[in-house]
Amino acid sequence: MTQNNLAVAPRDRVLSGMRPTGALHLGHYHGALKNWVRLQSEMECFYFVADWHALTTHYESREIIEKNVYEMVIDWLAAGLDPAQCTIFLQSRIPEHAELFTLLAMGTPISWLERVPTYKDQQEKLKDKDLSTYGFLGYPLLQAADILIYKAKWVPVGEDQASHVELTREAARRFNHLYGKEAHFDALVQQTLAVLEKDSVKRLEKSRKAWQQGGDAKALEGAVGFITGHAALSTPERERLEAWFRGTGKAVLTEPQVLLTTASKLPGLDGAKMSKSYNNAIAIREDKAQIEHKVRRMPTDPARVKRSDPGDPEKCPVWQFHRVYSDAATQQWVVSGCKSAGIGCLECKQPVIDGILAEQQPMLARAEPYLRNPKIVRDIVDAGTERARTTARETMKDVRAAIGLNY
Ligand code: TRP
Ligand code: SF4
Repeated sequence: MTQNNLAVAPRDRVLSGMRPTGALHLGHYHGALKNWVRLQSEMECFYFVADWHALTTHYESREIIEKNVYEMVIDWLAAGLDPAQCTIFLQSRIPEHAELFTLLAMGTPISWLERVPTYKDQQEKLKDKDLSTYGFLGYPLLQAADILIYKAKWVPVGEDQASHVELTREAARRFNHLYGKEAHFDALVQQTLAVLEKDSVKRLEKSRKAWQQGGDAKALEGAVGFITGHAALSTPERERLEAWFRGTGKAVLTEPQVLLTTASKLPGLDGAKMSKSYNNAIAIREDKAQIEHKVRRMPTDPARVKRSDPGDPEKCPVWQFHRVYSDAATQQWVVSGCKSAGIGCLECKQPVIDGILAEQQPMLARAEPYLRNPKIVRDIVDAGTERARTTARETMKDVRAAIGLNY
């Protein structure tokens, strides 16, 4: 269906990825996945498993990655990604990502990578791992290759990834600047100018200055008219002269933009950011008994020592869950019951448990056939990878030609 729509009206392209380093949890669902699902019907979406990116930090524990690649895709499908509407693929199956990464690396100053804030932050945070590797330094540039190879316009990611998208834009700009012109461009321009009358060349040079230095739009208009209407020039010669006049190269790579996903409104069970490593997460496909157990164990407003002590929802992580899972009437019941000690905390938690289980119900139903027959998941990833690779190959043809690697 998507493919047909595409032929009729090209839609903006979206690309995003996740690292397969652990089971996805409700923080991922509310912070990112829900948004991915919404986007799939609005734009042309590519979503991929960033297993190479996982290796930059887990190169000593590849079993974790291996275990989570297809588990993560099942979580995506459970959340509602529809392979008929979006393209789901595996990074390491598309070697063109590595090729573009290598080519971008040639002209990328090391300082650009060293000053990306996540570089030092993550090294600090993950002290138990040796991240003084070449691969980890290159993390954002590999991400740039992921994005640029699909000429994606939008990258739905959280605030923490914004600096990586900024680096991607810089890499694209640099590439277009370096290679957006054909090889021997200047010499060829001189040859082409030599075809024209001396007077015309003088006029062109004058109005080129007026356009490039003074932004004179009339000068541009006049020159483009002259160039395109000149009978002695071939089409490549006209294009070359126009590029020379404008002072721009061809945009081989497209500068993407962040499509900011608002930070997840759902914190972890203890009120901190939900994360598997903080032990405060509920997995998307967590079993019912575990969900009940985890919510019942959640800390509450410390002021409520006894059942008769009043509390304040603002000081309680359970309230943050009510804000996501409960309707207005239930929320009202929580606020007044908490402040007046009219309800107990276990009582208060029940609607949260019910809300999580209700949200999970359709996800478990969607996951079920994939768990029963994992081959379907592999087929989905195979088909998506094939589709993505076709696009990646096309971009690499342009990229190689632009650099002049077509000897
Ligand atoms: N760095 C991203 C993260 O940790 C994952 C990722 C890799 C990605 N390549 C990407 C996200 C390209 C968006 C686009 O979440
Ligand atoms: Fe938190 Fe509800 Fe207990 Fe109030 S009644 S402290 S909101 S769990």
